[in-house]
Amino acid sequence: MSTTTWALAPSSGSPARTIDAPRGLAGVVVAETSIGDVLGQEGRYHYRGHDAVELARSGDFEVAWHLLVLGSVPDADAAARFRERIASLRALPDGVPEFVARTRDGSSGTTIDPLRGLQATLPVLAAARGARPLYDLDDDARVEEALAVAAAAPGILAAFHSGVRATDAPPLDGSRRGVVADYLLAVTGREPDARAVNALSAYLIATLDHGFNASTFTARVIASTGADMASCVVGGIGALSGPLHGGAPSRALDALDAVAESSTDRGGATTADIERYVRGELSSGRRLMGFGHAVYRTADPRSRLLRQIALDYGGPRVELALEYESVAERLLAEYKPGRDLHTNVEFYAAVVMEQCGIPREMFTPTFAMARIVGWTAHVLEQARDPKIIRPSSRYVA
Ligand code: ACO
Repeated sequence: MSTTTWALAPSSGSPARTIDAPRGLAGVVVAETSIGDVLGQEGRYHYRGHDAVELARSGDFEVAWHLLVLGSVPDADAAARFRERIASLRALPDGVPEFVARTRDGSSGTTIDPLRGLQATLPVLAAARGARPLYDLDDDARVEEALAVAAAAPGILAAFHSGVRATDAPPLDGSRRGVVADYLLAVTGREPDARAVNALSAYLIATLDHGFNASTFTARVIASTGADMASCVVGGIGALSGPLHGGAPSRALDALDAVAESSTDRGGATTADIERYVRGELSSGRRLMGFGHAVYRTADPRSRLLRQIALDYGGPRVELALEYESVAERLLAEYKPGRDLHTNVEFYAAVVMEQCGIPREMFTPTFAMARIVGWTAHVLEQARDPKIIRPSSRYVA
């Protein structure tokens, strides 16, 4: 077969004028948002003007959800109505629990982990709900889609993990457990105590949203095409799953395990054990999971919050984590001078989730359950802007 060979002149890009963006789009402002902001130099972030760490300390997941997606902190009546609305959206339409059960049990020839299970199930949920592209919906219908997808996610994740039928979860009528406590019950198999519910609520609220991170941007790119809400969220999950983004927390715990196992001291890992391990990682060019951030040039406020929660829980794991943090920060300063690398949200998130009884394979799914709320808020905002996101590339031979 013969083909035409093009003269390889440098591409001028398809629009008349192109601008070169820095690698990774770092520092490029690509949209305006009213959902929140990350002040990387100051080590602060907020949701619609409300300090996110303070919201996390107050611990009401549904109130924070209302703020992000509906735009305001609800009063008690509005919060109760919102809980009822979420409760009604948690029951999965016919066919969806069956799909989850079949996929989970491998009847289709393969078994998949809960996060991929959620990715596979959301389009099925969309079909069962008769969901349509955002392009074809008015704002109220889009909001209903946003709430439906985020309300269904925790039950689907728990069902993939433990076989709990999402529809068996008790209704959330305000007098019973909330979303967080139900999720903990479903994932751990035991009635959660108040300390675990508060700790997990704080973590989930603290991770609802965080600027134009890779997964939020992915969801917004899909939204800019007018696709349906589930498609936007499925794309966001794909981006989140990577180890450099939401896939880090289980690996952070693996590192603590590796240090503990390498120790020759019967009393537990020593500072020297940690230093040997961390030097090994850094000199092999590997990254320390749970350290560094694309935006923060000072301590990640989520890490400070979660460190305190982990400390309140106590236990040998926290002692090791604190020592690991101190050694790792010192060695990162030596190996990456001038970069100012600290723990990010994922390091102590791993410790806190373990303290709450969540198994390691559910760390990233649990993160996703929170971040879906943030993505849906961003998707709604993006869907109001009719401009498709379509950058250019430069062809190089
Ligand atoms: N361990 C070792 N080196 C690191 C780490 C780390 N955790 N983080 C950054 N560095 C290095 C980079 O390799 C780079 O080195 P180089 O200049 O020699 O190439 C230098 O420090 C500067 O990196 P940045 O440009 O600041 O980092 P970037 O913005 O590219 O990446 C990221 C940010 C992906 C979070 C990175 O710090 C990382 O890989 N961390 C480990 C994975 C992790 O914890 N991810 C969770 C992030 S939080 C979240 O997504 C919710």
